Amino acid sequence: MTEAILLVGGYGTRLRPLTNHRPKPMLPLATLPITEHQLAMAAKVGIKRIVLATAYLSDVFTPYFGDGSKWGLEIKYALEKEPLGTAGAIRNAAELLSEGSEVVVLNGDVISSHDLSAQLELHRANSADITLHLTEVEDARAYGSVPTNSDGRVAAFLEKMDNPPTNNINAGCYIFESSVIDSIPKNQVVSVERETFPNLISQGGKIFGFIDHSYWLDIGTPKALLQGSTDLVKGIAASAALDRYKFAHRDQNYLSLSESISGDISGGSAIGGFCRLINCTVEGSIISDGVEAENCTIRNSFIEIGAKLPPNSTISNAFVDPDGEISEIFFAN
Ligand code: GDD
Ligand code: MG
Repeated sequence: MTEAILLVGGYGTRLRPLTNHRPKPMLPLATLPITEHQLAMAAKVGIKRIVLATAYLSDVFTPYFGDGSKWGLEIKYALEKEPLGTAGAIRNAAELLSEGSEVVVLNGDVISSHDLSAQLELHRANSADITLHLTEVEDARAYGSVPTNSDGRVAAFLEKMDNPPTNNINAGCYIFESSVIDSIPKNQVVSVERETFPNLISQGGKIFGFIDHSYWLDIGTPKALLQGSTDLVKGIAASAALDRYKFAHRDQNYLSLSESISGDISGGSAIGGFCRLINCTVEGSIISDGVEAENCTIRNSFIEIGAKLPPNSTISNAFVDPDGEISEIFFAN
């Protein structure tokens, strides 16, 4: 039985201040944590046991996901006292897996509609050591650029460089043979991108690319967070996680877990539970749980849990913290 590891221990630096109180994978996309969308994707291909590889703000995951039974999954938590890097995290988390031959590893900040079962099939057909999901982006400099040969074999792995040789990039979903994970040194800081992949390629390891161009997004910046959320609400991106919930309102204009909403809500906005929005205009925004507002206009913004907005305020391209403090930040970047 295939099992999975989710890498959810990074600091989410580029998303500060949004990641000051919750780790990036717990930020809401279309009202649900990024991690929940990923669990649904793994569950869809029959994966039952999933280890969350946690480090930064690790305590936030357990109260929400518990033992996973609510989702029909068995969720385990591996904790790194200090972040061990992506490969170190995989090695550490693998201790909690049972004896299986292959392991799906997911970066914890990606939403993707790619066909994971087809990736698994390709991995088995090639008898590969590792099979990487690759996607194409316009500018590959912020990613791992991954050239492949005509047979799909990975020729090189070049993490974040100024002149990437190809716009096919590492999309952050890997299938590993367990024996490869066993070869990663224990309790050491190791990076798959900068060490494990390049080393295995130079040693002649069988690393293949699964190229797929369906919807894919790395939630690395506030702008990407809004993009991912509004794309899910508008139906540009899909997630099986949303089908489990009974929303008070769900169409392409907006999604809401709360009943007490009035005004004009549009642009793929997402409104969490226990919110009270009276006569508000909301466009392309994320409103977290427990937010209250009256006669407000909120555009292209992220409102944190429990924020009470001053009546009649206008909030644009901004982050509002739980105390209602407004910071105009970088949603345009
Ligand atoms: N447990 C644990 N420990 N998780 C970690 C650690 C760690 O030390 N470091 C990073 N992670 C997790 C992050 O939480 C995130 O979910 C994932 O690993 C990737 O880290 P990012 O910091 O988001 O990396 P990136 O976006 O700059 O680049 C990575 O993703 C790109 C695709 O989205 C690389 O894998 C690139 O090669 C890739 O193209
Ligand atoms: Mg990322």
